[in-house]
Amino acid sequence: MIRTLAVENYRSLRKLIVPLDRLNVITGANGTGKSSLYRALRLLADSASGGAVAALAREGGLPSALWAGQAKAEATSMRLGFAGDEFGYAVDFGHPVPTSGEGATPSLFNLDPEIKRECTWAGPVLRPAALLCDRAGPAVRTRTADGGWHRTQGLRPYDSMLSELADPQLAPDLLRLRELIRSWRFYDHVRTDADAPARAARVGTRTPVLGHDGADLAAALQTIREIGDTGALDAAVDDAFPGTRVRVEDNGGRFEVRLHQRGLNRPLGAAELSDGTLRYLLWAAALLTPRPPSLLVLNEPETSLHPDLLRPLADLILHAAKDTQIVLVTHADPLAEAVAKGARRHRVDVNSVELVKESGETKVAGRESLLDEPLWYWPKR
Ligand SMILES: Nc1ncnc2c1ncn2[C@@H]1O[C@H](COP(=O)(O)OP(=O)(O)OP(=O)(O)O)[C@@H](O)[C@H]1O
Ligand SMILES: [Mg+2]
Repeated sequence: MIRTLAVENYRSLRKLIVPLDRLNVITGANGTGKSSLYRALRLLADSASGGAVAALAREGGLPSALWAGQAKAEATSMRLGFAGDEFGYAVDFGHPVPTSGEGATPSLFNLDPEIKRECTWAGPVLRPAALLCDRAGPAVRTRTADGGWHRTQGLRPYDSMLSELADPQLAPDLLRLRELIRSWRFYDHVRTDADAPARAARVGTRTPVLGHDGADLAAALQTIREIGDTGALDAAVDDAFPGTRVRVEDNGGRFEVRLHQRGLNRPLGAAELSDGTLRYLLWAAALLTPRPPSLLVLNEPETSLHPDLLRPLADLILHAAKDTQIVLVTHADPLAEAVAKGARRHRVDVNSVELVKESGETKVAGRESLLDEPLWYWPKR
């Protein structure tokens, strides 16, 4: 489980250290930095699959991602990190060293950020004695079984040591950490419009994990029926739409969602469902996954849901929290309240984090002093 998330100089998150628990609800007014926090977690996950530099470049590179607020010196370093029960990880992005000039290979990628430092360590905080892997520019040292260091050179500035050096023999801890991060799952504004992929019939294959675009909704629902908690699926649908049942039909290999509603002569297909109904089914499929991830991050799941559906959605989230750590980013207070209420009923703790903006900078509401902040150290450049 992740215990601490730390972000520095990423958009409005100038210095943000957030404690995390099993079930976390992040709220805040418009523009306070909720989606930035979601994206910071995504960028960390991208590091493990070797895509963080590309993802940052797609956002407009460091010039756009770096905190643009007033400070004594302009921000030049953007850092992301987390620490969990087992491992901690931090990465430091900076401006590239220009490759123009004598003897240099010319490049058109001079705006791509570079990874300047990267560290993994055992336990909750970075200490020299706890270091497992330590990278400075192209040089990496990895702790060996006898307590010494194995050294490698030549890591490219746009590659993460997580994706390049995770070797079962040389760096088994790095491999475990990489697989842990790769199992994080993110859902953000899955489409439900008239042309949404979730509305089309598709060839079905066993789908324990709903895809990001929801195109495999029917297969994911059928997989829950066959190997997952089919009772919870029926209960979730009946809870939201009393008297309604969801079924999946196989039409010559193509799977289609069918909603059997009280008072209708024939079931409705996915193409006929309202946006809100389809979205709720997508959330049911995502949250009742038969293969729970170590971390599930949801960005504004309340979008296009009627207020009546927020309580059933909260119950689905609480159900998922039994097997998964959850970060719920929401600007719907009724959803946050429904989660808090359900949690009290189930005697589960909720870590509620309210973000506020002060002088262009995202802060955690209610922090009186630095002592309220979790302990965190960045690797030095
Ligand atoms: N490079 C930057 N430096 C400083 N602030 C930035 C930078 N880039 C974006 N911002 C600001 O960060 C703020 C946070 O945006 P974000 O999208 O995370 O807000 P949000 O809490 O998700 O809001 P909403 O509820 O509207 O979705 C915005 O006000 C934006 O102007
Ligand atoms: Mg947002």
